[in-house]
Amino acid sequence: MARRRTTGLDALLASKEMVLVTGSGGVGKTTVAAALGLTAAVHQGGKILVLTVDPARRLADALGVGALGNTATKVSPEAFAAVGVKPRGELWAAMLDTKAGWDELIRRHAPDAPTRDAVLSNPLYQNITSRFVHSHDYLAMEQLHELHASGEYDLVVVDTPPSRSALDVLDAPSRMVDFFGSRLLRWLTVPYRSRLFTMASKPFYQVADRVLGSRFLQDIADFFVLFQAMEKGFVARARQVEALLGDPRTTFVVITTLETAPAHEAMFLARELAARGHDLGAVVANRVLPQDITRREASTSATRLAAAVEQDELGAAVAAELSATGESVDAPAVTSVLAEVAASFHDVALVATREAERRAELTELAPMLIDVPSLDSDVHDLSGLLTLVGHLRAAP
Ligand SMILES: Nc1ncnc2c1ncn2[C@@H]1O[C@H](COP(=O)(O)OP(=O)(O)OP(=O)(O)O)[C@@H](O)[C@H]1O
Ligand SMILES: [Mg+2]
Repeated sequence: MARRRTTGLDALLASKEMVLVTGSGGVGKTTVAAALGLTAAVHQGGKILVLTVDPARRLADALGVGALGNTATKVSPEAFAAVGVKPRGELWAAMLDTKAGWDELIRRHAPDAPTRDAVLSNPLYQNITSRFVHSHDYLAMEQLHELHASGEYDLVVVDTPPSRSALDVLDAPSRMVDFFGSRLLRWLTVPYRSRLFTMASKPFYQVADRVLGSRFLQDIADFFVLFQAMEKGFVARARQVEALLGDPRTTFVVITTLETAPAHEAMFLARELAARGHDLGAVVANRVLPQDITRREASTSATRLAAAVEQDELGAAVAAELSATGESVDAPAVTSVLAEVAASFHDVALVATREAERRAELTELAPMLIDVPSLDSDVHDLSGLLTLVGHLRAAP
């Protein structure tokens, strides 16, 4: 089905085939990735896939990716009907499964069946691969490549793992290449006997050998020798994955809150994407305070509210008003709430002012900055995601 061209986020999603959602930990990457996929499925059509990483349980259920690992499932028409939506296209979701992802890579790159089986049945295989630093990052990129190459989807939105640095995702493919050329791997794969000899000269390894047993050290050596046999496949693939990041059909959407640390990380990421020649499609400022709070009138109102409460003018009147329309409340309770609200308003306004400053800095770096407010509750179902879609599409 042809996808429609419009402006703002819709135009971005319509013009790209791959969207990489990145940003600091906990800022809303998984949630926004799901909402971006939903936006395209509902408003543009085509077959859209969202590859999520470790979504919250209820969100996973809403998307139907509960226990299924990286098998893609389609969000059912009934689920859409239940929220009164008739999507133009199809929304599919999958969850990044590191174990299955590694198995697939080994199967693909093993030079022959015996090597493949030896790696997969090496007792340390799972433990070692799951400990590869940034293994998750690499696999997310790798899956993006795989899904795009399958040609099954019109748009693939990839959520990224919670990393120490958002840059880790971009660096993951080259790290994989570097590992194969590294001294570490060479050291790990020198013939076992000669390494044992080198080791034996160092007290640490004498102890290691005695404590861990030479079987354990042998298993590690075996694993890396086998792993090295897959170098060609892995390196070629990592280079393809890296090329995909710079492909004109790929865009990055950086998610951030407007708190200091994530916002600075987002700015750094935006500059780095530009330096690497990658396309930054949009920055989403998530959970932002309403800008109205920073208006002078708002501050004046808060000051006057505080004064009025102090003079005991308001509590009784507001209590009467509230009691008339619901459960009865007493004046002292209302007075203390109003006093508290008036007093904390200036703190909130100060935060909103800081947010506005960071927002302005981010605007300089992004072709599109989309504000999303903090919703009343966590986003864990289609209707919550649809609310988010409304905010995402509201940006010009
Ligand atoms: N605009 C919002 N309003 C209300 N709740 C939100 C909003 N955005 C995200 N959340 C909630 O915040 C929590 C964290 O969001 P999410 O899991 O998407 O972050 P993340 O960046 O993927 O985290 P991680 O780096 O750990 O993967 C979730 O419970 C989500 O429902
Ligand atoms: Mg996440």
